[in-house]
Amino acid sequence: MILGQLAKRCSRIAYNGAAVKVRLAGAQLSLNVLTIRNFHDSDKQSLSLAQELKQDSVSGPIKDQAETTVSDQVAEYSKYMMNTYTRPPMLVDHGKGCYVYDTKGNKYLDMTAGIAVLALGHGHEGVSKVLYEQSKKLNHVSNLFFTKEVCELAKDVIEKTMSSYKEGNAGIYEDRHASFPKIFFTNSGTEATEGALKFARKYGKHIASSGTMKVGNSDPTLASDPNLKYHFHCFTGSFHGRSTGALAVTSNPKYQTPFTPLIPGVTVSKFNETRELSSFINERTCGVIVEPIQGEGGITEATEEFLKAVRKRCDQVGAVLIYDEIQCGLGRTGKLWGHNNYSPECSPDIITLAKPLANGFPIGAIIVSDKVSQVIKVGDHGSTFGGNPLGCAVGKYVFAQISDSAFLSQVQEKGDYFKKELLKAVEPYMAKGSSSGAIVEVRGKGLMLGVEFTEAPSSIVDKALTNGLLLVAAGRNTIRFLPPLIIEKSEIDTCIQLFKKTLSETL
Ligand SMILES: Cc1ncc(COP(=O)(O)O)c(C=O)c1O
Repeated sequence: MILGQLAKRCSRIAYNGAAVKVRLAGAQLSLNVLTIRNFHDSDKQSLSLAQELKQDSVSGPIKDQAETTVSDQVAEYSKYMMNTYTRPPMLVDHGKGCYVYDTKGNKYLDMTAGIAVLALGHGHEGVSKVLYEQSKKLNHVSNLFFTKEVCELAKDVIEKTMSSYKEGNAGIYEDRHASFPKIFFTNSGTEATEGALKFARKYGKHIASSGTMKVGNSDPTLASDPNLKYHFHCFTGSFHGRSTGALAVTSNPKYQTPFTPLIPGVTVSKFNETRELSSFINERTCGVIVEPIQGEGGITEATEEFLKAVRKRCDQVGAVLIYDEIQCGLGRTGKLWGHNNYSPECSPDIITLAKPLANGFPIGAIIVSDKVSQVIKVGDHGSTFGGNPLGCAVGKYVFAQISDSAFLSQVQEKGDYFKKELLKAVEPYMAKGSSSGAIVEVRGKGLMLGVEFTEAPSSIVDKALTNGLLLVAAGRNTIRFLPPLIIEKSEIDTCIQLFKKTLSETL
């Protein structure tokens, strides 16, 4: 094919601003056709031409000029953006199902799902439709008024939550036949944490002053000053958000140290360790916050024994038990809530939720037991956008699907399959007995899985990206697999192949 023909044809396959370039490399005619294998499926004409061009192209170590362009663009835009994340030099353009595509047409299998957000996958038509229809009807009125959207979502979430256990009456399930827990909508997970901490604070003051529980047995000062019941307890490896309150209970010096002093009165003990609980959680404690399955900390499941002991100690000292289900809740483990994987006696007084509730539209919520909610009065808390009709309309649509029992069983099945395949994939790299290996363990539940390495796995995450696989690290040494909950078995197989390839190229 001669140069003139090529240039003419190439002008037809410019894709999302990333032009295909034709250049001469040494004496040979070469084509930079972006990464042709990754052209967007729907762009059939471009794809077939791209394939044709690929056959015509001359292989060799040719510098990807389009890449330089994207790097330049990223460098240019970075001048205007805060430098709080390390991001690869690419621009994500669009997504469909479990895949995302960058502006150069490269296709990536997404095992991050926007950090456990896109439960129904990217570009979901039902979600778009609801959002579009709602945007024509009503966008926002603030919490000064009820809307049908916020009321219906509240009812659905609370009713489904109450039926997530057939029995049990601890925490939010208390008086299950007489009253309901209540919900407050937020815009993010962090805000849900903040609200939960406030509610626990107010409830703590209330019970310390009302005489409804015996306080001051081991702490006489508390009996004379109920305001002293303000302490929070959290656990190592936890993550609850980055605002100053949420950060105070996020026990990670890397996140906390630059911003000290944080709110006072926070104690920390070892996750899954029961021995220390009674000394740390005492009559001054108003709230204990815990993730039933830690996400950012490295996909670590709480033990049944631990959660039972925490619940028991909270009851003894009148502390509110908060389960942060922002990452592990809403179907991620194959149950509606992460805590549904434990016996009902471990149930919390407050649940925080966010990420997948509206499949990418920002929304969060706090579910509060009837007992705790009774002390929260008009004016105690608020939000301009929380409970916004756009988010709630999408939330209602998404929640109906992810709380469906058939959907949840599929998540469980696919999660079991995924974990089994991951175990097989990492087998050659496992550290066994005294022999050293690069991989320590595969763990997690449902589609919240983690592979722990002996060292920080950033080179694996970077390499996976070049192989068309998006991964996200957690804790110090773990890689998380948090795919859209609609992932197909064939996509799990593709992920395993790409992961194996990445391991063989990196380890
Ligand atoms: C368990 C947990 N809690 C809280 C948060 C904070 O949520 P957001 O980033 O929506 O504010 C996160 C975010 O990753 C999380 O995983």
